[in-house]
Amino acid sequence: MILALTNVKGGVGKTTTAVSLAAAFANSELKVLVVDLDPQGSASASLGVPAQDLEPSMADVLRGDVAASAALVDTGINRFDLLTGSMALAEVDIALARKKNGARRLIETIQPISRRYDAIIIDCPPGLSLLTINALAAAHAYILPVLPHELSFDALDRFFEGLENVRGYFRRQPRLLGILLTMMDQRVNMTDEMSRKIRRKHGGKVFRTTIPVNVSVAEATRSGMTIFEYERWSPSAHAYSKLGAEVLRRMRDQGLT
Ligand SMILES: Nc1ncnc2c1ncn2[C@@H]1O[C@H](COP(=O)(O)OP(=O)(O)O)[C@@H](O)[C@H]1O
Ligand SMILES: [Mg+2]
Repeated sequence: MILALTNVKGGVGKTTTAVSLAAAFANSELKVLVVDLDPQGSASASLGVPAQDLEPSMADVLRGDVAASAALVDTGINRFDLLTGSMALAEVDIALARKKNGARRLIETIQPISRRYDAIIIDCPPGLSLLTINALAAAHAYILPVLPHELSFDALDRFFEGLENVRGYFRRQPRLLGILLTMMDQRVNMTDEMSRKIRRKHGGKVFRTTIPVNVSVAEATRSGMTIFEYERWSPSAHAYSKLGAEVLRRMRDQGLT
């Protein structure tokens, strides 16, 4: 199964969710691959890959210079591989837009290794650029992380509108697996109100599991560790395990696995 983490907004927990969900899957014995499609390389950094070791990255793979199998990085975590992102992805993004079939480069290039994994999770840059379009075209379904804030609520609509505008790129419409409320801070009054508002509007599409705000998550990111390595018993590690189970259940219920 291939899943994409996407949103027009940055800072909503896409990367954290991509990496933590992959780690949760690996914990439950699935073989996972994270594909870092962000020129910032945040997923790679948060998995402890030093900046000088990012090449060959997904940029080389998408250009066709390096086979995906040759660009794989072993994260040191059992059953968990990575294809890194790097600055060069920014140029690839532009080049893809000029290519015929530019939306299908990703699926073409990871196809040869996709059988090795139970789950492939793609971390997208913010926005709906060709990189994200490639991720959506490759994925069986996508997950939209959102913050329980007014701005994030509006960003959801912008995302769906944006998707309409690029629908010509897809052979089949990308499928929304679920909307994930992240960085839920119960001390902030607005949190409950906004999460209710999002659930009212998007109903069953919103995952039951929510991710609490937790300083350990940010610390883990900075230390190049997953939340399970950094603080296995933290509320966020627990939440991401629960999310893993809910995602698998939804994939099964929707006939996507
Ligand atoms: N549940 C959480 N609690 C606290 N901080 C978080 C949580 N999830 C993410 N963060 C932090 O918020 C920032 C943005 O998250 P990130 O996953 O990088 O978002 P995006 O990929 O959408 O830009 C990062 O510094 C990350 O460590
Ligand atoms: Mg990110």
